[in-house]
Amino acid sequence: MLTEEIRQKIAQEIAGCEHPREKAVDVMYVLQRHYGYMTDEAVHEAAQLLGMTPLELDELATFYDFIYRQPVGNYVIHVCDGAACWMHHERAVFDYLCRKLGVEIGETTLDGLFTVLPTACIGNCHLAPAMLINGKCYGLLTPEKIDDILEQLVCEACQPVLTK
Ligand code: FES
Repeated sequence: MLTEEIRQKIAQEIAGCEHPREKAVDVMYVLQRHYGYMTDEAVHEAAQLLGMTPLELDELATFYDFIYRQPVGNYVIHVCDGAACWMHHERAVFDYLCRKLGVEIGETTLDGLFTVLPTACIGNCHLAPAMLINGKCYGLLTPEKIDDILEQLVCEACQPVLTK
C-alpha cells in the first residue's frame, strides 16, 4: 500500500497535467521504487491515480524495458541488444553473464542479487558491447571486465555468492 506522502506527491505532479496519463511512466517509476516492481496492486493504484484502466496501464508497463512486472534482483543488468552491440557480439555478453550467474535471460539469481534482462540501445554505441546496471553504463565489455564489475557489486552488497 502506498504511503500518504507518496500518494500526495503523485497527486501534486498529476494536478499540473492536462492529461494525467502523460505522467504514467513517471508514476510507475515511483510505485516501482516503493514496491520493488510493478505489482498487480501497484498497477491498480497507479491506474486509479491516473484515471486509466489497469489494462491500459499494464500495456504501458509491459512495453517499457525498465518497468518490471516481476520481482527483480538488487542489481538489474540490462544488456543492450541494439544494432551496434549486436555487431560487437552482445550474445557473448549474455552467454557469459548467464553462465557466470547461473541464470537464463529474464531470471534472477537465487540470492536475489542479479537479474539479467535485454534492452534496446542505451545510447552508448561507441562503448559496444554495453550494459546498464541500475542505470549505470558499463561498456567495451569483456569477460574480465564483467568479472571485475560483478565482483565489485557483490562486495558492495556483502554477498559471497558467484558461480564460475
Ligand atoms: S546499440 Fe548498444 S548502446 Fe547503442
